Amino acid sequence: MKKISLTLTSLALALTAGTAIANCDPGERVVKFSHVTGGTTHPKVVAANSLAERVNTEMNGKLCVEVFPNSTLFGDSKELEALLLGDVQLLAPSLSKFGSYTPKYGVFDLPFIFKDMDHAIRFTKTEEGKDLLLAMDDYAGFVGLGYWMSGMKYFSAGKELIVPSDAEGLKFRVQTSDVSKQMISAMGASPQAMAFSEVYGALQTGVVDGQENTWSNIYTKKFYEVQDSTTETNHQLLAYLFMTSSEFLASLSSADRAQFIQIADEVTQAANLNVKVAEAANRANILKAGGKINSLTPAQRQQWVDTMSPVWKQFEKDIGKDLIQAAAGA
Ligand code: LMR
Repeated sequence: MKKISLTLTSLALALTAGTAIANCDPGERVVKFSHVTGGTTHPKVVAANSLAERVNTEMNGKLCVEVFPNSTLFGDSKELEALLLGDVQLLAPSLSKFGSYTPKYGVFDLPFIFKDMDHAIRFTKTEEGKDLLLAMDDYAGFVGLGYWMSGMKYFSAGKELIVPSDAEGLKFRVQTSDVSKQMISAMGASPQAMAFSEVYGALQTGVVDGQENTWSNIYTKKFYEVQDSTTETNHQLLAYLFMTSSEFLASLSSADRAQFIQIADEVTQAANLNVKVAEAANRANILKAGGKINSLTPAQRQQWVDTMSPVWKQFEKDIGKDLIQAAAGA
């Protein structure tokens, strides 16, 4: 990677888009990392840029990672296919977006299964959690390099949501997750699956009434601007599968592969240590920017738990009772 040859225009673009623009040398293998989040304070943006910085310094002359945030290269619907076609080498999609490849990741979506992110991280370090990294290797050639936490999720809507009955009759944007769809239906509301890049417009024009996401996504995508308020339901985890393809890994020399995997692992550990701070900062950023946040009493929160938890039963067969127990008990 050439060190100092950013033009002022590319630097300005990089800063606004949160991009790590790499200036790859002709002899270097370009490794494209595509993702859908934006801003500069989002945990995925920070982790992807940190990976690029480390690979481009420590594997200089061999690999050169270019990061494309904000769905600028591929959006939700195309990125997994692009990885299989070799048009991109690194991704970090939400675990809620693998329904057409495996039902197992539905375990991460079960409402209230994780008390907090520490609980989820503990699960990813169990044998069951580690095995899931390779749940799709056999038939899709996808390889999980690590789990990147994003945060717990909260509901926002065009009206104040305090108890689940406030959501009745509303339409909520969800990711392409069957668990999320059933969870919204259990609230007496309608789920609408939609790509992340379309959410702001859909909230603004009333195509949907609400959505569920982390503080970092709600802040960096400005959802708070087009919603009445966000409620601290803490109902679900958002985490990513930092991934590549078996084809890409096989194409590296064994020494390069080992070095790359080592960096990927260290970046994953560091990223997960930073998430709570990033989430708290983006929660504060929402309030500073005029967004409204509703806190819940324990009794109000219990109503959300009681309404959504029955969804677990519906997925016991697909996900596996043992896996659900391993996650809940981690
Ligand atoms: C979403 O679609 O809401 C999230 O998965 C986006 C992301 O990558 O954080």
